[in-house]
Amino acid sequence: MKKSDGKKIKDKIAVFISGRGSNLRSIIKYSNKKKSSYKVELVISNKKNAKGLLLAKKKAIKNCSIDFTESKKLTDIVLNLLKKNHIKLVCLAGFMKILPVYFIKSFKGKIINIHPSLLPKYKGLNTHKRVINNSEKFTGCTVHFVNKFLDSGKIIIQKKVRIKKDDNPKSIEKKVLKIEHKIYPQAICEVLSTL
Ligand code: GAR
Repeated sequence: MKKSDGKKIKDKIAVFISGRGSNLRSIIKYSNKKKSSYKVELVISNKKNAKGLLLAKKKAIKNCSIDFTESKKLTDIVLNLLKKNHIKLVCLAGFMKILPVYFIKSFKGKIINIHPSLLPKYKGLNTHKRVINNSEKFTGCTVHFVNKFLDSGKIIIQKKVRIKKDDNPKSIEKKVLKIEHKIYPQAICEVLSTL
């Protein structure tokens, strides 16, 4: 759909965070490009002090913190916020809380996540440390759909990086984040084109 000035109307997305928000920053940066098919309409954090919330405020993006629990009442509040803001896709970006199954079912097929490993390998936490301990030659990151099982939904995009002999969890985190920032905005556009 196009606006009266001929510009394409961008799809609205929500980004869920828990911390630093470097992926949020790259998602916002890409959204300002002409080729981006999305706009970040809403940022939700499960942590009040998440650094990423400050970024959302600075960029004048609607934001709030909500303590996600299995409580249906709280989940309904979030679902209503998504509806009210016409959110087409929810993107988890460093969101370190398992979403209630009721939420996943209610927004089925429209929640994606980025994970710092080559899934299905290294689901869960401390991926870089485990990759080093297992003397892997490669690691990477994966954008995938969210289902009720941890880090297990259908893979959308995956990208590899080589691990060098002198790498450590910190240096791997740096390398992997660099590619996360590239592939997440691409994955968002790819998924939106199918919804
Ligand atoms: C990223 O590396 C992301 O892949 C990871 O948390 C980091 C968040 O960084 N997510 C997970 O581990 C989810 N299981 P950011 O806050 O700077 O985007």
